[in-house]
Amino acid sequence: MADPLTDARELLAAAPRVLIFTGAGVSAESGVPTFRGPGGLWKTFRPEELATPEAFGRDPRLVWEWYGWRREIVARCAPNPAHLAIGLWMLQREGVTLVTQNVDDLHERGAEEAAGGLVREGHDVPAERATPVRLHGSLFHVRCTGCGTRVAHREPIDATSEATLPHCACGSLQRPDVVWFGEMLPEDALERAFTAARAAGVCLVVGTAGAVHPAAAVVHATAGAGGAVIVVDPGETAYEGLTTLRFRAAAGEVVPQLLAVGA
Ligand code: OAD
Ligand code: ZN
Repeated sequence: MADPLTDARELLAAAPRVLIFTGAGVSAESGVPTFRGPGGLWKTFRPEELATPEAFGRDPRLVWEWYGWRREIVARCAPNPAHLAIGLWMLQREGVTLVTQNVDDLHERGAEEAAGGLVREGHDVPAERATPVRLHGSLFHVRCTGCGTRVAHREPIDATSEATLPHCACGSLQRPDVVWFGEMLPEDALERAFTAARAAGVCLVVGTAGAVHPAAAVVHATAGAGGAVIVVDPGETAYEGLTTLRFRAAAGEVVPQLLAVGA
């Protein structure tokens, strides 16, 4: 075996279709807390009090206060070199599907920054190509608890009372458009993710412990169909028995080296 980095770059360059699967770890270097690592959200907060339909039914004000706080953290963070490298790579080659478990918007912001650079160099940019498949929803979208309408929503959350929480034009309360514990994942996103995973010659896994299903099974779908699995994560993951190449390092350090076009 040459060096793992060369092998991984060759695998990624040679695969007609690649799936990139990310979790909270890809945003850790941007300052967004993960869930299960040191200082992780589930170490500080009890998910059953904040991230379940029952919690929202019991106290929508408390749940919105927590999601408003998470939005403020993400809004203060910037895409890191891993987000930028993934965005640029997706804009520069076809056949790549990005599936994320994250609810932050750093992949989109990273792709926007990468696209800006390409436009400045006079390239045309298929921006829609870099849009992630979102398995767990988005912090910056809301869904109406009455009519189900989903809209983008970035206004600051005023959780003073239930009346000041986000409300739909139909009059009903809006909730964060994220998947809570005990809820089903969006069917269309799941379908797209697993179809892409089964067709991928390589699955590049970045920053996920692989602890939450059905999302985590995306990686098994690529491996089960004979694809290679490359894992970038400084910690232990559920994929250790599945990996073809393993990089025990931070996303911001390794991903730009794996995806550097032409270097
Ligand atoms: P976790 O917190 O479970 O795992 C984060 C992973 O990122 C761990 O394996 C860390 O070792 C790794 N990590 C930390 N810093 C990193 C860095 N700089 N570079 C690369 N990796 C790093 O977060 P997820 O696996 O994303 O579900 O959690 C999956 C789901 O569980 C989330 O989407 C959320 C949560 O409950 C829902 O919201 C439904
Ligand atoms: Zn409505």
